[in-house]
Amino acid sequence: MKRILISDTPNVIGQKVKLSGWVNVRRDHGKLIFIDLRDRTGIIQMVVIPDKEEAYNISKEIRNEYVISVEGLVKERPGGQAKENENPLSKVEIEVEKIEVLNNSKTPPFEITSDTSNVSEDVRLKYRYLDLRTERMKNNLIMRSKVVKFIRDFYTEKEFIEIETPILTKGTPEGSREFIVPSRLHNGKFYVLPQSPQQFKQLLMVAGLERYFQIAKCFRDEDQRGDRQPEFTQLDLEMSFPDEKEIRGLYEECLIGIVKKYFPEKTINAIPFPELDYSEAIEKYNSDKPDLREDKNNPNELAFCWVVNFPLFEKNKDGQLTSSHHPFTAPVEDDIDLLNENPLKARARAYDIVLNGNEIGGGSIRIHKKELQHKIFEILGLEEEEIQSRFGHILEAFEFGAPPHGGIAPGIDRLIMILMNEPNIREVMAFPKTGEAEDLMMGAPSDLSEKQLKEAGIEKIKKQKL
Ligand code: AMO
Repeated sequence: MKRILISDTPNVIGQKVKLSGWVNVRRDHGKLIFIDLRDRTGIIQMVVIPDKEEAYNISKEIRNEYVISVEGLVKERPGGQAKENENPLSKVEIEVEKIEVLNNSKTPPFEITSDTSNVSEDVRLKYRYLDLRTERMKNNLIMRSKVVKFIRDFYTEKEFIEIETPILTKGTPEGSREFIVPSRLHNGKFYVLPQSPQQFKQLLMVAGLERYFQIAKCFRDEDQRGDRQPEFTQLDLEMSFPDEKEIRGLYEECLIGIVKKYFPEKTINAIPFPELDYSEAIEKYNSDKPDLREDKNNPNELAFCWVVNFPLFEKNKDGQLTSSHHPFTAPVEDDIDLLNENPLKARARAYDIVLNGNEIGGGSIRIHKKELQHKIFEILGLEEEEIQSRFGHILEAFEFGAPPHGGIAPGIDRLIMILMNEPNIREVMAFPKTGEAEDLMMGAPSDLSEKQLKEAGIEKIKKQKL
């Protein structure tokens, strides 16, 4: 007999079916044994009666989370048809005829039948494959998949081309430390994992692709917080001959579409999304990511806003100039003269998108002229040698007809976190790392064998306190 899904059972009342899945709960009522069976589509109650001796004996031994296959009759449960908005599975049950145990299971370290929000997170992360069996976590992943598909379809429809960019590459500055990967073939040299595909997407514009996007993995070795992971996902995109209103407008349209289709219970406070000057945001809200909701505790209120006119540079704690976003951001046209006299006064053609007090994306119009880009590196205090070794390739590319271009990179994890009313991004990632950047399930980071270290040309020094 061919397996059907639990969600299909209300359509086949009175028929014999085969179902496969996990034992959600088993209740022994002496005479009758009830088993709630779970598959990816839902949970259904099954009844085993003593008359079906073989099935009955097997179900006596069955425990929660065993994997079983069952054949039986679909019956309407007393109480009749499901009312509107009622789970149709609550009105059917299976009268079991045959059971086969496909695999057994140890007792899980926490209950899978309920929300695991209150279970120790270390335990949940160590047994993530069990945590993901829970309704809430599974739903988060399903909704994430739907939103990502919506984004893909949306930008493909608008003639953006999805292009993968390398993971083994050279550093690109986004203001954080980088993960480095030693090269075996070039002993003593290193690849760097991308903090973002920033330079590649700009080079794709030089390549004449005009409209690029990617659901991109980014890697940043920074201190962890609830809205930060060392490895996270961006919708990364770039356009040539852009109008910043167009870049922003498209993402705005995409977000409105996502909310309307998948989160109809939520309301967007203002469309088009309001625009705030950086200085105004700081003055009025003391933050460059203000929460503009009327009721700050209402998760169904979505207050998007754009923050614009950021300063191009800021001073770090050592008093050095750094880019507020990244060094490829174009200055506001009227402020180019300020670069010589007072660079800290120059504004950037950058924009952040903020949702309910979270920065959910950032982008800018880029520099596409070699001379201006070179000048920015100089203002940032880079010596000529360093400019050439780190950025010679992109400066050279700008000499071959680089078009005006710009883009944006919204964080996917943060967006889904807010849409799913979750308190941190780990809840919407399948296999996140802990606050200490560890993968407790896989046991990463981990030691390497002497042989592996030797091949990679690495010699370990005594552990240092960083
Ligand atoms: P930026 O560094 O602002 O811009 O990153 C864009 C968005 O990515 C998300 N994000 C993160 N999410 C989870 N964990 C992290 N550690 C993390 N860091 C960033 C945020 C953020 O708004 N290349 C530029 C974009 C561009 O100019 O087009 C960039 O990466 O939601």
